[in-house]
Amino acid sequence: MANQIERRVAEHIATMTYQHLTRSNLVRDPASFDSAQDFDSAQDAQGATDEPLIWVWQCPDRVVLIVNPLRIKNLDALLSHRFTHHLGTVLQGRRIAVMNHRGIFLQVGYYPELARDLALASKPLDLSRQPSPLHVPIGATHRDDLWLSLVELDAILIGGARRMGKTNLLHGWIAALLQGGETRLILYDGKGGVEFARYAHQPRVQVVEKLSDALGELFAEMNTRLDALRRARVANLAEYNRDKNAGGRLERIALIVDELAFALNEPGIEDVLVDVIARGGAVGIHPILATQRPSSDVVTPRIKSNLVTRLALPVPDRASSMVILDRAGAEAIAKTPGRLLIAHRARHIEAQAFVANIETPNSSPSLVSSRLSERETRIAQAIVEQLDGWFVTKRVMAATGERDVGFVNQVAQRWELLGYLTPVLKNARGHNLGRRVTERLNQVLAHESGESANEANQVESGANLDLSAENAACAERKG
Ligand SMILES: Nc1ncnc2c1ncn2[C@@H]1O[C@H](COP(=O)(O)OP(=O)(O)O)[C@@H](O)[C@H]1O
Ligand SMILES: [Mg+2]
Repeated sequence: MANQIERRVAEHIATMTYQHLTRSNLVRDPASFDSAQDFDSAQDAQGATDEPLIWVWQCPDRVVLIVNPLRIKNLDALLSHRFTHHLGTVLQGRRIAVMNHRGIFLQVGYYPELARDLALASKPLDLSRQPSPLHVPIGATHRDDLWLSLVELDAILIGGARRMGKTNLLHGWIAALLQGGETRLILYDGKGGVEFARYAHQPRVQVVEKLSDALGELFAEMNTRLDALRRARVANLAEYNRDKNAGGRLERIALIVDELAFALNEPGIEDVLVDVIARGGAVGIHPILATQRPSSDVVTPRIKSNLVTRLALPVPDRASSMVILDRAGAEAIAKTPGRLLIAHRARHIEAQAFVANIETPNSSPSLVSSRLSERETRIAQAIVEQLDGWFVTKRVMAATGERDVGFVNQVAQRWELLGYLTPVLKNARGHNLGRRVTERLNQVLAHESGESANEANQVESGANLDLSAENAACAERKG
């Protein structure tokens, strides 16, 4: 399937290059290769009376266009930096290298170079990568996927503008801690349980509508635990749990508060919360407090001072970043949901949170199913077979005859969440390129269309092999 896409891409690159060469008035005799249909015949130089202008040679990561020097008017112009620069623009920011080694070789990358920032694409959360039962997923970084242990994170403040991915991040953490099975969870979502009620039936989980419902009990538990530690003469929960003479294993407790501002509306909450944050650390109580209002009336200095880990999703201004991280920066990261800066042990790391694959209670079944509907399958096929693997709404509509732009956009979003498409990519100059299919969509599509698709694939890659061999031969003949 990938080969098939790349063949289309090579075709596109060759056609655009041909057009650019003729428009730049570099070609001696206009001609034999002026449309995609001519792609195949252009491959075959032999026996052609009218010698082709370009031969196309597909390599694994790039296409090499071999330009016939006999048909070029001005070789110096073709070899100039100016020409490659212009051609690069025509080809949506693809990188081009020119070689003049007894024949002119234009090497063009299949896909545009992406701005570094956008290389941090959202990925679905893969819980099988959890390093330990206490690790929670932070996201993809420029180096590697990042997971951190609740023990290292200790007490956490999460801030970010509305719709920037706080709740999604927390769902991922909850899923990881549930899978770990070693942590008790107290969940408060500020929406009366709408968001977290789905976890209520899980073992070790308490979902509360009002934070005061849980905080009193937690406060008492903290004091009991502190007494137990004192009696056992140990300094923290890890030592206590290692000590065979102590009273038995104590579980860690994560207190997850999705909207701190709402919780603080309850009278008398702040003092207890501040105390739990300050003294709970030693006995394995981990507050994880999220807010969409990073201002000092919500995140008061008293609350903040013991929240040692700070995590900022995109925020509108520097002041908000200062509240969350105690420094600027969160206002400058890409305003993409899930993009985040985490301040941890004097390091600042940028990451893109994974997409937690949770079923939203009020979404229709088709929105959470990972299977493709018939209508979606048609779109997927069009993308792969006609659109070089790019999902660009307008082109999808033209290729499939879909009239409903809302539906097409909804498909794009759903597929992005499922990891079938990348987010909208931009080239190094900041132009939108659209979304690209991922290997996952190829897999799903192959699966949906069953055996026949597999056979077609084999034929296709076979054809590609021949193509490369033929062109390699062309290159040798020319070289
Ligand atoms: N890591 C992510 N990658 C891609 N999209 C995300 C990510 N996190 C959230 N989103 C999208 O952003 C929307 C808002 O996310 P949500 O977690 O509800 O934000 P918040 O709780 O900050 O208001 C979600 O519906 C989801 O589509
Ligand atoms: Mg939210």
